[in-house]
Amino acid sequence: MNTVTLSIVTLIAASALSFNALSMKSSGATAVGPSHADTTIDWEHMSKAERKQYMKDVVMPKMKPIFHDFDPKRFKDVRCTTCHGDGARNGDFKMPNPELPKLPATREGFDKLNKEKPKMMEFMSKTVKPTMADLLGMKPFDPKTGSGFSCGNCHTTAKK
Ligand code: HEC
Ligand code: HEC
Repeated sequence: MNTVTLSIVTLIAASALSFNALSMKSSGATAVGPSHADTTIDWEHMSKAERKQYMKDVVMPKMKPIFHDFDPKRFKDVRCTTCHGDGARNGDFKMPNPELPKLPATREGFDKLNKEKPKMMEFMSKTVKPTMADLLGMKPFDPKTGSGFSCGNCHTTAKK
């Protein structure tokens, strides 16, 4: 990360300004398209307060319409609790969130889920996961390295 990016991170974190500052930034030298990881944040090294501010300023405005458009009834109200559950009420915001539907631990379980909820599964894997990974500046999960952003950053897994 260079100094410019660092100072942008500090700027975003230190103040409540957000979307404007961010769009100004992305029209600058390092053009960041919506489908590329947001390399201007360093999630790993952000403090909890900085993360919270980033969630408010950047993650919510982006994720809320995505969920809402997918299913306006089910996601009539998208809030911090939609992903964080009680963690958003008690302030720990711990993820993954065990209150979200638990994902199957087996291949067969996943196949079944794909059959039962194809739309939801497609939405989760093609939209929610990659968008969230981008927002956090994380790479998608790579089975080769065992690291990266996956369903398991939000959902816990059911016991076999
Ligand atoms: C679409 C889902 C989603 C929504 C909505 C959401 N978050 Fe998050 N949040 C996440 C994910 C995923 C992580 C964890 C990323 C990781 O794996 O490190 C996270 C992490 C955090 C953290 C860091 C927790 C830690 O242990 O460091 C804070 C604080 C936080 N969120 C606050 C908020 C607040 C405040 C809101 C509402 C304004 C909010 N989040 C809305 C998905 C969401
Ligand atoms: C950014 C956080 C996040 C990520 C990443 C994520 N999900 Fe979700 N998922 C949610 C939220 C929020 C809901 C809605 C829960 C609700 O309705 O209150 C949900 C709901 C679901 C449901 C619906 C279950 C039901 O009973 O209707 C399934 C299935 C699901 N997710 C599977 C997945 C899979 C598979 C992946 C990875 C490809 C994934 N999710 C990635 C946050 C996430």
